[in-house]
Amino acid sequence: MGAVCTAIQMATQNGQISIEATLSTGIKGAVSSPARTKSIKMRPQSAACLFLALVGFVGATEWWESGNYYQIYPRSFRDSDGDGIGDLNGVTEKLQYLKDIGFTGTWLSPIFKSPMVDFGYDISDFYQIQPEYGTMEDFERMIAKAKEVGIKIILDFVPNHSSTENEWFTKSVDSDPVYKDFYVWHDGKINNETGEREPPSNWNSEFRYSAWEWNDVRQQYYLHQFAIQQADLNYRNPAVVNEMKNVIRFWLGKGVSGFRIDAVPYLFEVDLDRYNQYPDEPLTNDPVNCPDPDDHCYTQHIYTQDMPETIDMVYQWREVVDEFHVEHGGDQRLLMTEAYTSFANIMTYYGNGVRNGSHIPFNFDFLTSINNASKAGDYVDHIKKWMDAMPAGVYANWVLGNHDNKRVASRFGVQRTDLINILLQTLPGHAVTYNGEELGMTDVWISWEDTVDPNACNSDPDNYYARSRDPERSPYQWDASSKAGFTSADHTWLPVADDYKTNNALQQLRAPRSHLQIFKKLVRVRKEPSFRQGELNIQAIDDDVLIYSRQKTGSDLYVIVLNLGSTSKTLDLTKYYGLGTQAEVITTSLSSQYIDGDVITSAEFVANPYVGTVLVAV
Ligand code: GLC
Ligand code: MG
Ligand code: CA
Repeated sequence: MGAVCTAIQMATQNGQISIEATLSTGIKGAVSSPARTKSIKMRPQSAACLFLALVGFVGATEWWESGNYYQIYPRSFRDSDGDGIGDLNGVTEKLQYLKDIGFTGTWLSPIFKSPMVDFGYDISDFYQIQPEYGTMEDFERMIAKAKEVGIKIILDFVPNHSSTENEWFTKSVDSDPVYKDFYVWHDGKINNETGEREPPSNWNSEFRYSAWEWNDVRQQYYLHQFAIQQADLNYRNPAVVNEMKNVIRFWLGKGVSGFRIDAVPYLFEVDLDRYNQYPDEPLTNDPVNCPDPDDHCYTQHIYTQDMPETIDMVYQWREVVDEFHVEHGGDQRLLMTEAYTSFANIMTYYGNGVRNGSHIPFNFDFLTSINNASKAGDYVDHIKKWMDAMPAGVYANWVLGNHDNKRVASRFGVQRTDLINILLQTLPGHAVTYNGEELGMTDVWISWEDTVDPNACNSDPDNYYARSRDPERSPYQWDASSKAGFTSADHTWLPVADDYKTNNALQQLRAPRSHLQIFKKLVRVRKEPSFRQGELNIQAIDDDVLIYSRQKTGSDLYVIVLNLGSTSKTLDLTKYYGLGTQAEVITTSLSSQYIDGDVITSAEFVANPYVGTVLVAV
């Protein structure tokens, strides 16, 4: 399916065609079936291309389209050289493990040269590997091994800022003609009453306090939307735009399959006004939820986030990776975008009908809206919201965990581990799993004294924990040996969880029943046509029970039942989706009364508390 027709298809949808599908497939508009409620209004000349587009997607075989993605936090994944810090050779060693589980690809949090103020999100050289993670040769070996094993490597592209230790910044401080305007510099304002110099505006950093930092050498302020050591690059300077495109091309040239793009909404700030000033942002005025003037939430970020130029930049990056594909051949290169922003904005990251953007704009509507208190109806609402809003020709994606959010098992309760994994793996489109969620790893409590996350360190002993991202970054639990088999060192950069002796990958691989065994079953069944291309019919039976079917016409009917609640429910499943009198359990949560392979009586199905079950019609 050519990109041109994809674009036209999207354009026609936004322009003249509206597709209303109450029942949706993973690829919106991909498969038509008699059962589907669909109304298409279109001008006649659009019909041919739309038809081609639909047909094209049915036969689509690009690797990323049926992808199942895994996020590795390299610092905590596997330490090969005994320094207590994860590294690239550690990743290489474990690629076969990812393949065995069944993942398509893995995105790695940053591995580039960095003073590690924000653990790699402060890059001092975009073209080098961080020495404690390995050498360029180690990187090349990792890529070669990934190719051999069949796992795609996706790197983190951190475009908004560089470390203040980056040579670009040092040269900018010195007003080097090439780098002078690489960052966002400003003289600040003189306070009329005190006569003192003040920051240019009231903008705060994500990590608290002013987003402006005075530089004594240059005698100006520079902008940092994150840590003081993460200076924002100036995207209004075409040289910066060019340089960052070169960074993309450089790593594509090294054989990576795509990028996860970091902190996208912050790329551009409002341009200077006609008095050469940056305007103050309006106050949130929310004394209950955000009383502290030093907090990021204190102002509404109308000048520092979601500028229209930002979306355009993502489209430009898509052009860069697509061009690279055209020029160098091979598989398509993939973009994933990290944007905590409005739902409407997330959708525009997919594309605007004329230009394409991110293949996978992370579904943070799901991540930020669904929590421990959510009712079955809330799940249904958010799932439908995404399925109905996404443009034609793209895929949905489901993500609940990453290195910036407390662990899924801790947020939803360990008892719901399997249920959540079942949900993410059986919805249409892409699933993204943060390392450890497949094992049901939980947060590790870390004292204020031991806290290293800059976001938490900028807080205080009473408030740090809510802000800290250390708890979800503890070392991966490989086995029951010392330090969970993460390292041979007796010290790790963050503590290993206490439960590693009983909860680790090896134990779960050996056990006949475990979170990991369930996860592997899910990954396998997900490859069936009904999951790859089948429709989704979803509903809440009551506040606790969520039920849905996945079926492609002519293929197996799967019915998934999730009981979020704490009481057992006996259900007559023959009332749903034409399920017959019996069905077989493909897989089910550890605490279910059923086991995989059981044949159940549909009329008297017992949904145990916190249990998810995948059934197939027999
Ligand atoms: C993204 C990263 C986060 C980092 C921030 C600044 O949100 O996921 O870990 O601190 O960007 O780069
Ligand atoms: Mg190491
Ligand atoms: Ca910026």
